[in-house]
Amino acid sequence: MSQKKYRVIQWATGVVGKTALKHFIENPVIELVGVYVTNPEKVGKDAGELVGLPATGVIATNDVEKIIALNADCVLFSPQRQDVDMVCRLLRSGKNVVSPAGPFLPNEWFAEAFDKIDAACREGGTSYHGCGIHPGFSGDILPLTLTRLMNRIDRIEIIEVIDKLRNPMIYVEVMGFGRDPAELLAKPSRSPEAPRHFQQSMNTLAEGLGKKIEKVTTRLEVSAATEDIPYPNGVIKKGTVAGQHYEWTGWCEGAPLIVYHFYWTMGDNVEPKWDNGDSCYRAVIHGDPPLELRLMGGVESDGRRPFHGLPWTGLLGATAVPAVCDAKPGVLTHIELGVVQPRGLVRPA
Ligand SMILES: NC(=O)c1ccc[n+]([C@@H]2O[C@H](COP(=O)([O-])OP(=O)(O)OC[C@H]3O[C@@H](n4cnc5c(N)ncnc54)[C@H](OP(=O)(O)O)[C@@H]3O)[C@@H](O)[C@H]2O)c1
Repeated sequence: MSQKKYRVIQWATGVVGKTALKHFIENPVIELVGVYVTNPEKVGKDAGELVGLPATGVIATNDVEKIIALNADCVLFSPQRQDVDMVCRLLRSGKNVVSPAGPFLPNEWFAEAFDKIDAACREGGTSYHGCGIHPGFSGDILPLTLTRLMNRIDRIEIIEVIDKLRNPMIYVEVMGFGRDPAELLAKPSRSPEAPRHFQQSMNTLAEGLGKKIEKVTTRLEVSAATEDIPYPNGVIKKGTVAGQHYEWTGWCEGAPLIVYHFYWTMGDNVEPKWDNGDSCYRAVIHGDPPLELRLMGGVESDGRRPFHGLPWTGLLGATAVPAVCDAKPGVLTHIELGVVQPRGLVRPA
């Protein structure tokens, strides 16, 4: 097998970026050549130090021009927010880009972004791939792969279950936990545009089956805290929102074909209780024969399974890097990328 090495830059070191950075340092087919950070406390630090590994000699910088000037095959671009113009600059400078910040898969809502990215790919002779757990995996390439086990499909349900008490991060406030239930139902925290974002995945799955999503309908239900729920940044007061179930349904030929559920709760003391068990993704395909797959992290010392969505997002990007570098220039959806064959994963611990 080829021992080809890929020169890689890690752009931003949040949870997703740190996971990818650790992978790049440890993977023998990758040569880490640069790290871009925004946090002044990280500037000047060795990349190894940022992820608890020995020094690598690669020093984190906040100087965009230095990063652009580097000779690299690929950038894993994982800033907090999408930045299509910066993605295009990197592509034009001759670096392939893999981005969990999206956009992911071309659809009517992101046509302008993809036109820009496509033009930058042509100019730079480079490729772009949007990656992530959802969108990017659990609601598209994973169920599309599972459909090979079906004789007939009636409906596909993808269920995301996250215990936010174990993974609070910024999302507790952003998602409106602790708000008044009636007020949240009247004005949901999740933007009305969010389904368009996930329709990138829905379209990939539907089109992979030779079908088209004609409309997406949405539904929201909430559950309330049955007691005060303390978490690292505060307290979710009894009676306020402690669970949210967003349901987005993609319709095809007058019937629901793909349903995405997002169950986010702050622990177990909520009513109604949805009893979905530990954090996971569940793919349920109704039809002949019915199928169910549960994707979850391994059991930890407390007997529970953690939510690995953010580290998985970093790894889905990092493991796609060799395939993206080797592919022909342009926007690479799952369909163009084909079966990704990761490199350097099988190695001594
Ligand atoms: N598709 C999916 O399934 C999926 C899942 C999870 C996340 N994501 C996306 O992946 C990206 C990374 O997620 P994350 O959880 O690692 O994010 P995060 O921890 O919130 O932030 C990532 C990093 O972005 C940098 N940053 C902070 N403020 C910034 C600003 N104003 N402008 C530009 N960069 C800034 C920081 O880098 P430094 O600390 O290095 O300075 C920060 O650590 C996000 O865009 C997120 O939406 C996608």
